[in-house]
Amino acid sequence: MKTLYFDYQATTPVADEVLHKMQPYFIESFANPHASDHALGWKTAAAVENAAQQVARLIGADSDEIIFTSGATESNNLAILGLARRAAMTDAPKKRILLSAIEHKCVLSVGRILQEQYDYTVDSIPIDRNGHIDSAELERLLSEDVLLVSIMAVNNEIGSIQDIDSISETIRKNGAIFHCDAAQAPMAMTMESLAAKADMISLSGHKMYGPKGIGALHIRRDLQDKIEPLIYGGGQQNGLRSGTLPTPLCIGMGAAAEYIGSFEVSEKRKELQVRTNRFIDMLSALSWPTQLHGDEGQKRHPGNISIGFRGFDAEDILGALQPHLAASTGSACTSGIPEPSHVLKAIGLTMEEAKSVIRFSLGFETSDQEVDEAVKLINVALQKLSDPKVQPKNS
Ligand SMILES: Cc1ncc(COP(=O)(O)O)c(C=O)c1O
Repeated sequence: MKTLYFDYQATTPVADEVLHKMQPYFIESFANPHASDHALGWKTAAAVENAAQQVARLIGADSDEIIFTSGATESNNLAILGLARRAAMTDAPKKRILLSAIEHKCVLSVGRILQEQYDYTVDSIPIDRNGHIDSAELERLLSEDVLLVSIMAVNNEIGSIQDIDSISETIRKNGAIFHCDAAQAPMAMTMESLAAKADMISLSGHKMYGPKGIGALHIRRDLQDKIEPLIYGGGQQNGLRSGTLPTPLCIGMGAAAEYIGSFEVSEKRKELQVRTNRFIDMLSALSWPTQLHGDEGQKRHPGNISIGFRGFDAEDILGALQPHLAASTGSACTSGIPEPSHVLKAIGLTMEEAKSVIRFSLGFETSDQEVDEAVKLINVALQKLSDPKVQPKNS
């Protein structure tokens, strides 16, 4: 039996062409890319450089501004912790950092460490009901003592796409450094001018049809000597991230960047949007009251649906759907205690509302037939779980 996969924002499969390009680097071309004394090393080094160029091209940067990491978690840590730790060593450090209220937990956790261990003041930038930065609040929070602002391009739970142009302008006017977690952006939007707007950009291979275990951090060239590494060692990657580069994964990240930036994908994105809208319409037409969260149209990830099923618990729905359909709740389980998602709280949902939310995320492979089957399965699950208190819409 096939499980319908509606969790592409958690991770994508590796595209066939990406896997194909990675394969020779496991066995045939396995030489250490940092082995500078022989031709085999030069060959893998050239392949890694080509991969860095492909990643750079996706965001409009240069290859010497790309640092390969293990994923977006590490990229976010290197960008924020790296910058703040180095700044803390200077005489007159700027001691404030701004993080949007809907950043990924790996960003918010770094914020807590900076507050507790490095004496930074970390402020949260509020967002509106649709998940967009409140620009008046951003303007109000900015001042000369702000070192860094971190705002994600596309949200992983509610799919909101930020207005990076105007955010960048506001931040730069105030002299702060702008880090953008763009892990969810490659599937959602074209990114060829992102490096002109943000000073540091985080990417993740497995959110863009590349392999897991690889990511990248773009660091503007003139900022690189202001970053304290997280990992020390042989000085690879300009000393910013020591350790032997995993050649096949780097090749996979480069190939994924080329694939996701292609014309073919920009066409697929449009089809994805249409299919997602159809899914939303079909869910809204069920007899059960639903509520869509986040924005609509161009300001939303084309494959994202964040939808509340009023009166139901999302975990019960997903439990009832196993093993037929894979999607996720917005809740995160910390120390065994399920908590409503900080993103849903930030857009103003009550605890009760947040507990009813499921994130479905569609990918380029999702078909209309899979959408039809998913809607049928969801309807059956809701009927099964139905409490007499939850009145179907038309009764
Ligand atoms: C917005 C965002 N940032 C960071 C991450 C972490 O990415 P990785 O799994 O590559 O560490 C994720 C993954 O869910 C994400 O969605």
